[in-house]
Amino acid sequence: MNYPIDEKYAWKIPSKPLNLVDIPLVNNDEHLYYHFYLKQIDVEKFIQGNPFFEWLAENYKFSCGLIKMEPNKIYDWHIDVGKTKTNRGVCINALVTPSPSFVLFTDNLNNLMSHGGEEFQTDIVPFTYDLNEIYLFNTSKAHSVYNFEKERLLFSVEFELDYPLLTYERIKNKIKTEFLNE
Ligand SMILES: [Fe+2]
Repeated sequence: MNYPIDEKYAWKIPSKPLNLVDIPLVNNDEHLYYHFYLKQIDVEKFIQGNPFFEWLAENYKFSCGLIKMEPNKIYDWHIDVGKTKTNRGVCINALVTPSPSFVLFTDNLNNLMSHGGEEFQTDIVPFTYDLNEIYLFNTSKAHSVYNFEKERLLFSVEFELDYPLLTYERIKNKIKTEFLNE
């Protein structure tokens, strides 16, 4: 199933798709990163020959990695800013394995029972990544991830600047005006 997504949640950046076998890892070690296992990517090698990431590196400091999700797991509803340990308003992601999985967003997280609300139902906005395509992802919107029968690897960029110094809308506008010259 493919769910197109409203640009306020996630935006497909017009750029070269990634390919898992070409992504240079620092080594094969897995680090526990919050609740995920992560393999670190060699950023300097990775950006070479990729116009978008070369542009990004001229404008922002960032690290990137491959985040692993085990088969048949969910990553529960959360927002990456505010009360959580991270304060990320935005990240750049690409799904690099053809694992059946999807993301849900909601604007009504507070209604949900699991967060102390009183409702059993709330509005959702489903989203599926197109394989290997790069997306700007609004982590300030409540989201959850559902992975099915295969291991899922997500390429993910972690910016040095936190929210609110770096926001989803600000970087989206900068990519459009300065990288895409729209
Ligand atoms: Fe998140």
